[in-house]
Amino acid sequence: MSTKKIFSAAQRRHIPLYQFNFSDLSQLWGIINATKNFKTPFILGTSEGESRFLGLNFTVALKREAEKELGFPIILNLDHGKSLSYIKEAVNAGYDMVHFDGSSLPLKENIEITKKVVGYARKRGIIVEGEVGVVRGSSRFHKGIAKVSKKDMTKPEEAEVFAKETKVDALATVFGNIHGVYEKMESLDLKRLSMIKRRVGERVFLVLHGGSGIPIPQVKSAVKKGIVKININTDIRCAWREALERALRIDPYEVAPSKLMPSVVEAVEKVINKKMKLFNENHSRHQYLYKMR
Ligand code: G3H
Ligand code: ZN
Repeated sequence: MSTKKIFSAAQRRHIPLYQFNFSDLSQLWGIINATKNFKTPFILGTSEGESRFLGLNFTVALKREAEKELGFPIILNLDHGKSLSYIKEAVNAGYDMVHFDGSSLPLKENIEITKKVVGYARKRGIIVEGEVGVVRGSSRFHKGIAKVSKKDMTKPEEAEVFAKETKVDALATVFGNIHGVYEKMESLDLKRLSMIKRRVGERVFLVLHGGSGIPIPQVKSAVKKGIVKININTDIRCAWREALERALRIDPYEVAPSKLMPSVVEAVEKVINKKMKLFNENHSRHQYLYKMR
């Protein structure tokens, strides 16, 4: 089953695809151990920085090993790719999906480069996520209140033009979402999401960035209103760090990663398990995605 078909099935059924970002093996094992129980497709994400740290070829090799471990195919996405040249490297290394983040550019330039990304990726069977609006913040814990200004949010009419001109498969949208976990967050602007959805229709899969820290009822409403993919990074990173600190505290003299890291894997696994459960309570009903492949 192609990546596109997996997205379409998720869209039809209102069962979102999670993207879990990772940048080390303990996080990947946590993701594998948790998703094993669900047999539902998901996406492995690496930002440019994460993929540079792991190495593009290593990341692809890890994803392929993860597939063998799981027994079903998964999707590897280059998250927030900032340049056409790096995106080409990721495609050539074997990524299944690329996200071009041209959100800091004027719309016209964003459209021009996204078109080039689509031109390069599509003939190689790779799907493309574009971005309109600016997802602020960073994937870490932040003190204080998260505020997303209106000018950073996706304008529905711009989303429509962008989708029509670039022919992207997926679109990162901003309607109150922000990268990171905050002490307090304002509610998502679900009306704006509905307007975006109305403008771009079914042809474009809408993506929720900054998936960590959003209250569950709001995540569920966003899915009802058209979100097909949810990106998660901070929740994984926070669990990783807290567990690592705990392990180091428990035995300050231990120096073997093989002894320190299992509890870190478990902590990540717990986080992923909770996310997966949110939309996969009724197991057998959702195994269609797996069976269809
Ligand atoms: O692209 C990655 C995601 O948008 C991650 O957001 O760190 O808030 O979970 P998050
Ligand atoms: Zn993001």
